[in-house]
Amino acid sequence: MDYTWPDFVDECRHCTNCSLSSSRKNVVIYRGAIEAPLMFVGEGPGAHEDDQGEPFVGQAGRLLNLLLEAYGFTPKDYHICNIVKCRPPENRIPTRDEAKCCMPLLAKQIRFAKPKVIVLLGSTAYKYFLNPDEPISKARGNWIEKSKYLIMPTYHPAYILRNNRERITLWQDMGLVRKKMEELGFMEPLSLDPDMPAGRG
Ligand code: URA
Repeated sequence: MDYTWPDFVDECRHCTNCSLSSSRKNVVIYRGAIEAPLMFVGEGPGAHEDDQGEPFVGQAGRLLNLLLEAYGFTPKDYHICNIVKCRPPENRIPTRDEAKCCMPLLAKQIRFAKPKVIVLLGSTAYKYFLNPDEPISKARGNWIEKSKYLIMPTYHPAYILRNNRERITLWQDMGLVRKKMEELGFMEPLSLDPDMPAGRG
């Protein structure tokens, strides 16, 4: 029998592979489309996400939504998830062991979502996903090709809310993501003139 998306959701909901499972209200799996060319990976659920069972529904999520809408992404274009699916108590950073426990589920999730482009939101996602030598401040804004994926590390929206000076950087990085999606043929070029057909403005 094939392992389906509902099987995957069921596996996540029953997961007790690490101690985060004992304090969670909800397992936070994804929002957007199950299969999408673009994946965003954050750190882990906060209180709002734990309450609602969806990633990025708090303040950082509002900024992420603003960016997505500004660049013309709609939910069918993206799949948003996190390194860990259960809220770390007190919103602490998930440990490497917790991330390691959750990684097989994320790997399965990626196989279902089939993204071409993966955006790593913040240093935790960047660190646990890629095991890099460089800090995110150096790596952000640059494409990393790994297996069949194009990976872009950038700042976490929550970091931007605390460091307004870097706001432009996140916007620029998201602009690069939009451009790449166009180059890859997943999206039409953005027209700046609302009266012009796409690509002619
Ligand atoms: N921060 C994250 O990294 N993920 C969420 O889902 C919410 C806030």
